[in-house]
Amino acid sequence: MDELTEAFRALGDPTRLRILRLICEARLNVSEVVSLVGIAQSSVSHHLTRLKALDLIREERQGGFTYYSLALDDKAPLWPLIKLARSAHDAHGDHARLTELLRRREDVQTLNEKLLEPGQSWRLWSAALASLLPPLEVVDFGCGTGVLTVELARWARHVTAIDRSESALTKARAEAARQGLHNITFLAADLEHLPLERASVDLVVVSQSLHHVDSIEHVLAEGARVLKPGGRMVVLELLPHDEAWVKSRLGHQHLGFAPDAVEQAMREVGLEHTQSVPAPRDATSPFKAFLLIGTRAAARTRTVKLRTTA
Ligand SMILES: C[S@@+](CC[C@H](N)C(=O)[O-])C[C@H]1O[C@@H](n2cnc3c(N)ncnc32)[C@H](O)[C@@H]1O
Repeated sequence: MDELTEAFRALGDPTRLRILRLICEARLNVSEVVSLVGIAQSSVSHHLTRLKALDLIREERQGGFTYYSLALDDKAPLWPLIKLARSAHDAHGDHARLTELLRRREDVQTLNEKLLEPGQSWRLWSAALASLLPPLEVVDFGCGTGVLTVELARWARHVTAIDRSESALTKARAEAARQGLHNITFLAADLEHLPLERASVDLVVVSQSLHHVDSIEHVLAEGARVLKPGGRMVVLELLPHDEAWVKSRLGHQHLGFAPDAVEQAMREVGLEHTQSVPAPRDATSPFKAFLLIGTRAAARTRTVKLRTTA
């Protein structure tokens, strides 16, 4: 009983609760916890010591770092407390930051290994090639939680990131702020009716958003409308698939598309020189992607008839 009372008391501190929730999800070192929770290292160390004293977490040394992980399993008497902690509202967007941290960790490890194989350092290469682009005005159609948005913002002059989901936009804003990116405007709007001026952007990115919308024609038409003459639209979509569960679970309206049909729809809204980019094969996933690029037709030069005086 004392143990339970003590544990409840310890987790009455909101920051300590956040730290425990993060450690429930992944094994973390002190600096990682500091970067996720955003408080001083001395306070984080204090919270970790308290959680360790309650035997909720354990520490182990590896490669010069001390890592913390959950010390309980689902048979432990305090396990219901862990379940409660996990289900608490994530008001600070910790989960999104942790996901990004784990992705980076994996990337660094993969990069370290891949760098040993000549020609495999694709992340470095994509960053290098992106840096060769002119500073573009970009719109991200259906930005979701902003994973792609922040990558675009690293090289774009400015990104307008649009989504109808306020909760997705909140996460995307937090991620952009965490990464110190200030060249993004987040906008809650419907992709079929955008509050953007015509011919105002250089690049429209539509990544996995078309399968959510009612009318892909309306969304593509909005993309073409806001593009400057000569501007590009890049569409990443799924090939047709049979995973019908995505409709009820993820709100998809379409089970993928035939690339020819999307390409035709792009041409009908005034995009030309459409081309498809072959996607890498992944035999293990039922979802296979394709990429299409189109260019807004250049404005017709108006021929002005000059009146000649006799
Ligand atoms: C699968 S996510 C794509 C996220 C991101 N583009 C990416 O590739 O990682 C699709 C997003 O489109 C948004 N969306 C779907 N229909 C929309 C609409 N009509 N207007 C605005 N946003 C929409 C959803 O809210 C969701 O966040």
